[in-house]
Amino acid sequence: MDKKIKKIGILTGGGDCPGLNAVIRAVTRTAILKYNLEVVGFKNGYRGLYLGQTVRLDLDAISGILPRGGTILHTSNKDNLFRYPFIEDGKIVYRDVSDVGIQNIRDAGIDAMIIIGGDGTLTSARDFARKGVNVVGVPKTIDNDLALTDVTFGFDTAVAVATEALDRLHSTAESHHRIMCLEVMGRYAGWIALEAGIAGGADAILIPEIPYDIQKVAEKIIKRRHDGKDFSVVVVAEGARPISGELTISQVVEDSPDPIRLGGIGIQVAKQLEELVGLEARATILGHLQRGGTPTAYDRILSTRYGAAAVELVMEQKFGNMVTLKGNDMSYDSLENVIGKLKNVDPEGELVKTAKGIGICFGD
Ligand code: F6P
Repeated sequence: MDKKIKKIGILTGGGDCPGLNAVIRAVTRTAILKYNLEVVGFKNGYRGLYLGQTVRLDLDAISGILPRGGTILHTSNKDNLFRYPFIEDGKIVYRDVSDVGIQNIRDAGIDAMIIIGGDGTLTSARDFARKGVNVVGVPKTIDNDLALTDVTFGFDTAVAVATEALDRLHSTAESHHRIMCLEVMGRYAGWIALEAGIAGGADAILIPEIPYDIQKVAEKIIKRRHDGKDFSVVVVAEGARPISGELTISQVVEDSPDPIRLGGIGIQVAKQLEELVGLEARATILGHLQRGGTPTAYDRILSTRYGAAAVELVMEQKFGNMVTLKGNDMSYDSLENVIGKLKNVDPEGELVKTAKGIGICFGD
């Protein structure tokens, strides 16, 4: 049997996400109340691991954080310790400083790390596991694009925010006889667009998994006009692209491990539809509103389950794994199997078929 677990560390990495605090709370409460462990948080994601920025997490430290957005530990989506940037002679050079992070874990007397993050953060978690660190991952992202888990925490909240935005856009679209395009996040996966589009009664949903023909979307809106509906609402995933076109990039963040930031396709779609349909069109980019603020009840429960399940995996010394949700059951899978396989919307799946069946246009 391996060494007895007495102290665990927690780290939140990558973009923030509703439910992060609920996971931190569940980990801390389960660790202290059920197993009498000590809990330490690293601040600012992997940067804090490199700099040894720790904070003790006791029951007082996590009191009242369940409904709070963001992460009390703060985060960073730039610091990969296996390729850490330094400025030398005015140039950026990259070095592997992962051993500094490992030494900081040892110096803090931590027996196991619970690392909460999306694809980028969990890639480093896997790499730390490969170097012998006792790691358990927790799947976070509003995009819901992590493989081998049915739902990531934060996704439900993002869908709820986008759905409310669609409800609000409907009333102003109808008043002004306009086409309103809502651009939502999701990176290279269309989950937020698809689910919010169905929940918010969109007329068209454009997602990365189904490249669109703008003429087809225009035809759908023109048909609605003929049927007496002279307004339409279109959801556009930030990763959507025309059949013979490219992704729309809003920014390249040079010092980020994942430098491409998508954005702006909703504006293009609105302009093209205005010309093709002859109705005024406007675009709204929902942006980080989808990430900020309080988690839904579903996300609070899912985050709590993930946090508690992560501590159970630590106690069973099942390291190198990520906790997962399969159906309605908590389970786990190797980080080795999770990384590098994004979970996309199935264009032939039931959800897309259902949406098409009720008349939603995907531009295909
Ligand atoms: O992965 C979460 C996410 O919000 C994506 O949906 C979005 O493309 C990206 O992060 C935005 O990143 P940033 O916060 O760096 O602008």
